[in-house]
Amino acid sequence: MKNPFTIKSYESKELFCDREEELRLMLSNCLNHTDMALISQRRMGKTGLLLRLFDEIADVHPEIHTIYLDIFSSRNIDDFIKLLAEATMKSFKPKTSIGDKLMTFIKSMKPQLTFDNITGEPQLQIAYQTAHEKEYTLRGLLEFLDSQDVHIVIAIDEFQQIREYPEQNMEALLRTYIQQTHNLTFIYCGSKKHLMADIFTNEKKPFYSSTTFVSLGRISEQSYSTFIRHLFNENDRDITDEAIQFILDWTRRHTYYTQQLCHTVFAGGTQHIGIEEVKAACDLLMKQGEAVYLQYRQMLTVKQWSYLIAVAKEGSVRQITSAQFLGRHHIGTASASLRLAEALCEKGLLNDEVTLDGTIYSINDVFLSHWMERL
Ligand SMILES: Nc1ncnc2c1ncn2[C@@H]1O[C@H](COP(=O)(O)OP(=O)(O)OP(=O)(O)O)[C@@H](O)[C@H]1O
Ligand SMILES: [Mg+2]
Repeated sequence: MKNPFTIKSYESKELFCDREEELRLMLSNCLNHTDMALISQRRMGKTGLLLRLFDEIADVHPEIHTIYLDIFSSRNIDDFIKLLAEATMKSFKPKTSIGDKLMTFIKSMKPQLTFDNITGEPQLQIAYQTAHEKEYTLRGLLEFLDSQDVHIVIAIDEFQQIREYPEQNMEALLRTYIQQTHNLTFIYCGSKKHLMADIFTNEKKPFYSSTTFVSLGRISEQSYSTFIRHLFNENDRDITDEAIQFILDWTRRHTYYTQQLCHTVFAGGTQHIGIEEVKAACDLLMKQGEAVYLQYRQMLTVKQWSYLIAVAKEGSVRQITSAQFLGRHHIGTASASLRLAEALCEKGLLNDEVTLDGTIYSINDVFLSHWMERL
């Protein structure tokens, strides 16, 4: 029996919980050629939602083509072009009209894009000489796609990675080329909120005000509990309301962690699931994470480590400079607290969620947070 709780990438809409509102909004934006920036905390479900959206488009609007590329591994403009070209080739298969034109186009590109046929997957080698030639290739590829007279939605995942490129003008280049297209809709996705915000809301930056925003929060308690019960029941298991509530509370409805805990409970094989089975799965997950958590301790200063413990013990902290918080955990001054929080956010260990009531800090990794509570 296959575990229905996915913890890798998106599988099917049956195994995907809710996100109906976001899906409707994104679909409508696509139909209206509105570019979007999809931003959320890590592991909240951005990539899953993008793939769910593309599934929906294939079902309901097969006339729209979709291209998905994840640029996390890219280091420079060469990598970006390679990933875009490969993703494009995956989308437009050979022996279709656009697929054949694409092949001819890629073969004609100067600098050269050559194929690596060993793996069967499209893989391109790019032989470049000058920066100018790279820019020409990138523009050429986008122009080619735009000139096919079909609507294409291009999702670029981990978009903030372009900030790491040595080419300082990457944002300006992309923005200029993209602005000239008519048939392409872009979705930029990323989890480094500060970088993404700077790319899209800083008026001094090329992408300023070029997109609408879709932010992804937690799935509602009601949707998630219905979903969890349904997937257990469908696989001949039953689970108590109390156990489901515990799962949602303990994982704070942070999608990846909720999925992971359900996955582990399911893998335990028990047919009648109560709170004890869930607690055993929580213990197992924390035990499994321990080696990595201890590595973090090596990477951090003593003060940073203690600060993380302080946040873990609080669960989440609304006022990191309040006398209460500082005093209770012997943190020192307010400015020391701000500095520590900033450094830990920078390392991706802490998350800062800006709300109307101020900024709330919590540990990104829910399992780490619970493990630290006990220290
Ligand atoms: N609505 C959903 N229903 C069920 N599972 C989901 C849902 N959204 C995401 N998931 C699962 O949760 C996990 C984390 O989601 P995903 O990778 O999409 O998050 P992300 O925001 O892209 O994370 P990162 O910031 O690390 O890129 C994945 O295993 C994914 O399949
Ligand atoms: Mg992702």
